[in-house]
Amino acid sequence: MSQPILITHEQGVLTLSFNRAEKKNALTADMYRLLGQALREADADSAVRAVLLQGDAHCFTSGNDVQDFLQAPPNGPDAPVFLFMQALLECRKPVVAAVNGSAVGIGTTLLLHCDLVFVGPEAKLRMPFVNLGLCPEYGSSLLVPLRLGHAKAAQLLLLGEAFDAEQTVALGFANACLSSGEACLAHAREQALRFTQLAPQAVMQTKALMRAPYLEQLKQVIAEEGELFVKRLRSPEAMEALSAFMQHRAPDFSRFA
Ligand code: COA
Repeated sequence: MSQPILITHEQGVLTLSFNRAEKKNALTADMYRLLGQALREADADSAVRAVLLQGDAHCFTSGNDVQDFLQAPPNGPDAPVFLFMQALLECRKPVVAAVNGSAVGIGTTLLLHCDLVFVGPEAKLRMPFVNLGLCPEYGSSLLVPLRLGHAKAAQLLLLGEAFDAEQTVALGFANACLSSGEACLAHAREQALRFTQLAPQAVMQTKALMRAPYLEQLKQVIAEEGELFVKRLRSPEAMEALSAFMQHRAPDFSRFA
């Protein structure tokens, strides 16, 4: 069986690639474990100057594996998904993401914690937390309104509307849209390599300064969201939505008050 996360270290760039194309790169607990561990190691390894996070040329990730959510939902801050996100939040090295195709749920949330994001023309981002009977996760209820203002954030978080490549750049979620999925991967790699030519301490200290003004508040929000998210995952509303996805039908929330 192929590895669900491909890890390569070349020329000072650690590349983490989601590799589960048959399930649109849906992320399982095992994949979060591998990602979290690789990020921790990259952070501690002075030979790594930047991290590149990518899917393939056609899909970034469809988010958390829905089957996993139903069978083994995360039950607290030590769940692999949260430990991975914590490793991303605490990563002192610059993180670059290359996104084409779907980036759903945590696939969009994690971009809020990357430093540079490049998209391909088919990029489609979406945070369908409410649509799944859930709530925002890992800082998105703070970071999205902070970056986009309340009205736009409500469109994306309350209605769960998708946004395409052009909107992603216009909204400030991404730095640039490239001409194809392949061009996006190549460009993101070039940008990650630029960090290998820069002074590493200056880069890391600048990244820390950029987040310092809101970091404490962010950590508090992450803890509150995490607690609620874990509860919501077990709620009848979420059960209905997640089961509906697995059964290829629309969810029916009409019985809920
Ligand atoms: N978890 C588990 N399986 C998933 C998945 C996920 N998040 N996303 C896709 N898959 C599976 C599908 O069930 C399907 O499996 P099958 O071939 O065994 O039936 C396969 O991956 C292909 O997905 P499909 O929906 O047919 O692809 P598509 O190109 O039509 O649509 C998406 C792609 C990403 C738009 C769609 O799959 C989707 O909306 N996925 C769910 C995303 C989601 O809600 N994620 C948030 C979870 S918190």
